[in-house]
Amino acid sequence: MGSTVSSFLYLISGICFIIALRGLSHPATSRAGNYCGVVGMVIAIFTTLTLEVVQNYAIITVGLLIGGTIGTIIARKIQMTALPQLVAAFHSLVGLSACFVAIAAFYQPEAYSIGNKLGLMKTGALLEVALGLAIGAITFTGSIVAFGKLQGTITSNPLIFSGQHVLNALMCGVLITLVILLCYSQSPAAFWLIFFVALVLGCCLVLPIGGADMPIVVSMLNSYSGWAATGIGFTLNNHLMIITGALVGSSGAILCYIMCKGMNRSFFSVIIGGFGKKSKNIRKSQSESNQISVKEGDAEEAAFMLKQASSVVIVPGYGMAVAQAQHALREMANLLKAKGVVVRYAIHPVAGRMPGHMNVLLAEANVPYEDVLELDEVNIQFAQTDVAFVIGANDVTNPAAKNDPSSPIYGMPILDVENAKSVLFAKRSMAFGYAGVENDLFFRKNTLMLFGDAKKMCEKIIQYLN
Ligand code: TAP
Repeated sequence: MGSTVSSFLYLISGICFIIALRGLSHPATSRAGNYCGVVGMVIAIFTTLTLEVVQNYAIITVGLLIGGTIGTIIARKIQMTALPQLVAAFHSLVGLSACFVAIAAFYQPEAYSIGNKLGLMKTGALLEVALGLAIGAITFTGSIVAFGKLQGTITSNPLIFSGQHVLNALMCGVLITLVILLCYSQSPAAFWLIFFVALVLGCCLVLPIGGADMPIVVSMLNSYSGWAATGIGFTLNNHLMIITGALVGSSGAILCYIMCKGMNRSFFSVIIGGFGKKSKNIRKSQSESNQISVKEGDAEEAAFMLKQASSVVIVPGYGMAVAQAQHALREMANLLKAKGVVVRYAIHPVAGRMPGHMNVLLAEANVPYEDVLELDEVNIQFAQTDVAFVIGANDVTNPAAKNDPSSPIYGMPILDVENAKSVLFAKRSMAFGYAGVENDLFFRKNTLMLFGDAKKMCEKIIQYLN
């Protein structure tokens, strides 16, 4: 295929990706956006396969078969609650592939048309290779640490030691010096030192970040993986890869910024991997130590309160996803609506374990979009709400975020369910949420705990509503 035609097709697929991103910004258009992205990717793969430089179709076919099979199996088996760690794992592969391309290009520059017959490379090409290698290695190890934290194989507590910032700054300084050295000398020693320092830096950037702030890290790594792909794009002289990498890099950075705002964190601190503090109030549950008791209710009492209410706000969280309670919840809400109760859903930006987690589940259960309210819209309504029905959510309702400066979630905006006349908490036990902090709301006078699996609890409430 000629370069003009392939450039044109790459342009089309780049436009498809931009439309896809636009579509993904709202639940109503996200499905169409996704399809548009698929079309863009098919065009991109087809165009790339027909480029003149592609010679060995056997290796590509084997790679496609192996990768495609693994991808299909993972996509079919993965639980939605495990998607964040899957995304982190995928980011690590993007980082690793950037490193592989950089290594191949450094040792065989003539194969990429970026070096002469003697293997000497121009300064610009060396800079691209160095950036691709450094960002790729940071993304690789950073994503592996994020995967471990999300999967629970590494503690989700922030791992902090004194002098951490100085060490990170020092490593950044060393990296920059090595990149300059590489550009001037094409020294293999500088090349490999960049690789190893970047690998260590990736770990050091993510280890100090606490579990409650992991959503921001996932978006940040998303951005890093995009920039790593851009680096590869320059090395391979592939325009689409540059465009796509830049789209992923900038959209990841924008998402990271939005999340920082949503959680009241400093964007700069995330980029340098500096925030997250040791939780001072991770402690034994008050109920376990019998200091204060909670009011426990059952499905019958809950159904009675919900029927009597004129307005109900449902607050879903991670536990609803675990229990797959969204369909039963929607059925319960429909029964209440049929009885004249005004029912709304309140979604916190970081409820669940990935951006948009609750939106996706509620959309899957055909909850009307107009019934779903965002944090700012709903917080002003809680004071006029009779019942807040919190189902499998915990951290996103925890008032410690507002009034306990020692709490790891301090500063994060929360859903002010405490302002509702009554609060029902449907969860299995007194266990903490993801941030590992106790929720004082459980002990308040207007709170009734509904212990049990979220789906089963909804099904029982439905029986009493009928
Ligand atoms: P969490 O604070 O994690 O609380 C979820 C609650 O669900 C737990 O307390 C758990 O209590 C309950 N639960 C678990 N399984 C259940 C089941 N089958 N039935 C009923 N309840 C069940 O969730 P949240 O309020 O949604 O807050 C999200 C947290 O995750 C935040 O700290 C956020 O920073 C973090 N995070 C978010 C993301 C994104 S991007 N959204 C990514 C990573 C981390 P029991 O065990 O007692 O049932």
